[in-house]
Amino acid sequence: MPILEVRDLKKNFENTQVLKGISFDLEEGEAISIIGSSGSGKTTLLRCLNFLETADEGTITVRGKKLFDGAKPVTNQDELRKMRLHFGLVFQQFNLFPQYTALENVTLAPLLAAEGGDKAGIIENGKRLLDQMGLSDRMDNYPHQLSGGQQQRVAIARALALKPDILCFDEPTSALDPELTGEVLKVIRNLAEKKTTMIIVTHEMAFARDVADKAIFMDGGVILEQGSAKELINNPKEERTRQFLSGLAK
Ligand SMILES: Nc1ncnc2c1ncn2[C@@H]1O[C@H](COP(=O)(O)OP(=O)(O)O)[C@@H](O)[C@H]1O
Ligand SMILES: [Mg+2]
Repeated sequence: MPILEVRDLKKNFENTQVLKGISFDLEEGEAISIIGSSGSGKTTLLRCLNFLETADEGTITVRGKKLFDGAKPVTNQDELRKMRLHFGLVFQQFNLFPQYTALENVTLAPLLAAEGGDKAGIIENGKRLLDQMGLSDRMDNYPHQLSGGQQQRVAIARALALKPDILCFDEPTSALDPELTGEVLKVIRNLAEKKTTMIIVTHEMAFARDVADKAIFMDGGVILEQGSAKELINNPKEERTRQFLSGLAK
């Protein structure tokens, strides 16, 4: 059974249909990369999966449990919060809390969720995650004391701290200077090697091909092509995918 089954997801903004029926599966331990031009609906798809937007139609099923059904959307805030815990989202802009240290950024949400439970365990886990991100000497730094690449690695640790079933990245390196991109990609590559289940929206084509098991090419709100990441990026079947990939190579 796939860990995630997305079926015929549709989303409109006013009169524009931005997602026109998105369907795909993700297996536990797999990474899938999503590529496509600006405006093709990639961010909207991730936001619908994280329940930051409510899709209009379709279903989202995690571990066999239907979390979302467009026919009867959940509006209860507590329910939505619980649904969100299945997904972690790392944004393009790191969105760290400026008034908290790296470690506090990572532990804040789990401490709130635990309501005074295993505080020591949560802090231990936060330290372990920051260590895994190569930030063991940066735990007490505030975001403004960190480089963009370091901030993004804190954001990844923060997303992992809530132990999501599926970790989503929305162009995690596109706000970074080129020399800082590598350190963030390396961390995501390590997560893939550890079989973290991930959805990665990225413009880094070689990365999308080498790190992900599967790839999706989105165009105008539909999945135009999906399959093995290597096959799709090295040898696309659709003319439109070829155009997109060769445009990038220019
Ligand atoms: N909140 C919104 N309100 C209206 N239109 C939106 C909103 N968010 C995104 N869109 C539109 O949806 C389309 C897809 O956007 P987006 O999902 O951000 O694409 P991508 O991430 O692939 O660049 C774009 O045409 C964008 O202008
Ligand atoms: Mg986007």
